[in-house]
Amino acid sequence: DDQLHPPHYPWSHDGILSSLDHASIRRGYQVYKEVCSACHSLDQIAFRNLVGVSHTEEEAKALAESVNIEDGPNEDGEMFLRPGKLSDYFPPPYKNDEEARAANNGALPPDLSLMNKARHGGEDYMFSLLTGYCDPPAGITVREGLSYNPYFTGGAIGMPQQLFDDMLEYEDGTPATVSQLAKDVSVFLKWCTEPYYDDKKRMFMKAFLIISFLTGISWYYKRHKWSVLK
Ligand code: HEM
Repeated sequence: DDQLHPPHYPWSHDGILSSLDHASIRRGYQVYKEVCSACHSLDQIAFRNLVGVSHTEEEAKALAESVNIEDGPNEDGEMFLRPGKLSDYFPPPYKNDEEARAANNGALPPDLSLMNKARHGGEDYMFSLLTGYCDPPAGITVREGLSYNPYFTGGAIGMPQQLFDDMLEYEDGTPATVSQLAKDVSVFLKWCTEPYYDDKKRMFMKAFLIISFLTGISWYYKRHKWSVLK
């Protein structure tokens, strides 16, 4: 492929005992909501999924209530809008692919729920793509409506640069630099793709401890029993 391979970044969740950074997930949700959700759906995530991960139940309820969800049909056979509930999934920005393409020069913004697994490199790719916009090298021209990004296959992407310094204000006061915004939304999207990431690591640790303990006992027992025969 004619694309740049993303470098591996030292994510704080990389260690075998490290969980995802939940403050980062919360900031990343804010980036998704205020920036990406204008074009990208995230249809595997419901507001209730945020509870206990990045938000309290009251906060998640308020977030849900702040969006309009299409429901219906009612008795008259009509669809209607109502405030969201915890059980609702994040609403998509467009009615269908046609409308999405029409709004994006023909390019289709993919659903981001599984994007962390869909592209080789996971969060390294996500971070590199979002921060990788630059002028094309000499001799390469990019078609009108496309942007140059060396991490995207082919180099010409239908998504313009999205992240800019201080484009939003984090409620925890973290400076919203381009790399901070990209890192947080990458961690958020990793959690979206692997919501059981932390549980998986906890289970691994438990299994490891139990197996070590049992191995120890059987070793002792074996020595004990066989000592007579030797
Ligand atoms: C494609 C992420 C904001 C429009 C993509 C891809 C990712 C992504 C991962 C797929 C790249 C690939 O196929 O490998 C994000 C994130 C955003 C964001 C994390 C917020 C920080 C936006 C916004 C728009 C947009 C606001 C619209 C103004 C598109 C389009 C494509 C795309 C049209 C398809 C590009 C193509 O296939 O050439 N985005 N995006 N994105 N995004 Fe975004």
